[in-house]
Amino acid sequence: KRAKRPVGAPDKSLAKKVTKVGIIGAGLMASQFALLFVRRLKVPVLITDLDQARVDKGVAHIHEEIGKLEAKGRLDGDTANQLRGLVRGTTDKSEYADCDFVIEAVFEEVGVKQQVFAEIESVIAPDAILATNTSSLSVEEIGAKLSHPERLVGFHFFNPVAVMPLIEIVKTPATDEQTLSTAFVVAKGLGKNAVLTADAPGFVVNRLLAKVMGEAARAVYEGTPLLTVEKAFAPLGLPMTPFQLIDLVGWKVAAHVQDTMSAAFPDRFFSSENFHALAELPEVVEKDKHGKVTGWTKAAEKVLKGAVGS
Ligand code: 3HC
Repeated sequence: KRAKRPVGAPDKSLAKKVTKVGIIGAGLMASQFALLFVRRLKVPVLITDLDQARVDKGVAHIHEEIGKLEAKGRLDGDTANQLRGLVRGTTDKSEYADCDFVIEAVFEEVGVKQQVFAEIESVIAPDAILATNTSSLSVEEIGAKLSHPERLVGFHFFNPVAVMPLIEIVKTPATDEQTLSTAFVVAKGLGKNAVLTADAPGFVVNRLLAKVMGEAARAVYEGTPLLTVEKAFAPLGLPMTPFQLIDLVGWKVAAHVQDTMSAAFPDRFFSSENFHALAELPEVVEKDKHGKVTGWTKAAEKVLKGAVGS
């Protein structure tokens, strides 16, 4: 017999009605959230970033994605215009005053996240919900400086946001029932399945993924050719190989997850130092003309496509 609600999920009747969503950050992940929120919840969405140029870029990206859906016939012209009208970019945080659900997708550093929440908390209502999309930082620590830590919850999306069906909802010892309930109702409204996880390093998904990405990296570090690792992964039947996955989430984010996991469990996860050292191997990464790492395996991927199954 199936449980009526996910294990640990609170009573949805406690949920707060969400009428306006705030997103902090206007980068790729944040823009994808904005699109999902306007498309699924049909509520006004505000996005913000450090400066107007970043905000404009984020809004332009969302408009572009709406345009693509329109071109594919997934949205009619009126709906597309209506969705564009729901997105607003601003650098003025006071505009967040009437948002009842604010999610951050800024740089993965506790201090940065604490800072943006402190700014937002000073303008929003005391019972507005705050959510963090952190992929592996402690949600409790992110909320440590809040006046109302009971309204903070982890709300962790996966790449690509539009497609991946899961959201990890992370509860801290302070998170109250209304916050948790609202998070579950919002996740459902977005068309996602939500699971409740403990506030432990990597939650659940990144705990598993850090093993996959870390062990693949360890094998290459220990001398196995990268393409061998990628081909050897095929029998597991996952949609992406470990290095394709690292490319998808981005090397920086993958390295950050590895840092968190190896710091928390040094004897169980591939050392982040060695993971970073892989970024120096030319057969593993592509670098731009300034020598900056732009991706793992992009160049190898073409070879891999031909190599798999051969
Ligand atoms: N953005 C939006 N939509 C996308 C997309 C993207 N980047 N990539 C693919 N899609 C959509 C396509 O439009 C298509 O939609 P449709 O069926 O409605 O036309 C659908 O996804 C399937 O795409 P394709 O047929 O082109 O390609 P695949 O069948 O190969 O699927 C994939 C692509 C869904 C990305 C699949 O490879 C996959 O599931 N990969 C694993 C991804 C994964 O594990 N993500 C988790 C990463 S970890 C993370 O994010 C956590 C962080 O904290 C580190």
